Amino acid sequence: MSFAKIVKEVLFTKEQIKKRVDEMVSRIDKDYQGKDLVVVALLKGSVVFLADLVRGFTRPLAFDFIGVSSYGSSTSSIGMVTLEKGITVDITGKSVLVVDDILDTGRSLNFVKNYLQKFKPKEIKICVLLEKKETRLMDVRADYVGFEIPNVFVLGYGLDYEDRYRHLPYIASLKEEYYNELSAKITEPSEGIVQDRTAGSSNGRTAGSGPVGLGSNPSPAASNTAKNV
Ligand code: XMP
Repeated sequence: MSFAKIVKEVLFTKEQIKKRVDEMVSRIDKDYQGKDLVVVALLKGSVVFLADLVRGFTRPLAFDFIGVSSYGSSTSSIGMVTLEKGITVDITGKSVLVVDDILDTGRSLNFVKNYLQKFKPKEIKICVLLEKKETRLMDVRADYVGFEIPNVFVLGYGLDYEDRYRHLPYIASLKEEYYNELSAKITEPSEGIVQDRTAGSSNGRTAGSGPVGLGSNPSPAASNTAKNV
């Protein structure tokens, strides 16, 4: 499938992203002066953003990854988030910066924040490249935001459509005609609201969790959400 077939519009070019990420780096680097920083990034969508972000920092830091999957109605705050991969770096007493690609309903970051609190870090802040304000269902606020976007499904620069297109250097919106394909492929897991699946499990995707990395799907037809790890 060619890019042109699925891309509706390029929202942010490679140059625009670089300029904005550089601005974010300068600010964050200054804010963390004298702090013991651990960056915790959510798999997989934040990986490209993380790579550009941390390479701009001038201070020593550690980074780690966390993996979650989320499901549930795109119009209800009742959803299920499962932890697929926990952290391995010690964050007790440290300043944690959580990095994600996009803040949508807020379920994933709300879950991650609660999970990280258990390790008693000194502080937790959130940094996202993109934010959809109108779809928020949980009370989560990002301390650093790259760009605010409307409720459209986006891909590129780490964000996927059917686990592809993460490598695109720009961020684009998906043509609406593909929204229904996304929602049709998402599977509803069994009951539950919030789970931690790491105990005794291997690091990896949930079997049958659905193939898409989809947050709050802007399609009226969509009823579930899922996120790849
Ligand atoms: P919540 O709803 O928990 O979800 O804030 C955030 C996660 O959902 C995924 N997501 C998207 N992925 N294009 C994507 O490729 C999108 O437009 C989109 N919206 C949400 C993403 O993985 C994010 O971390």
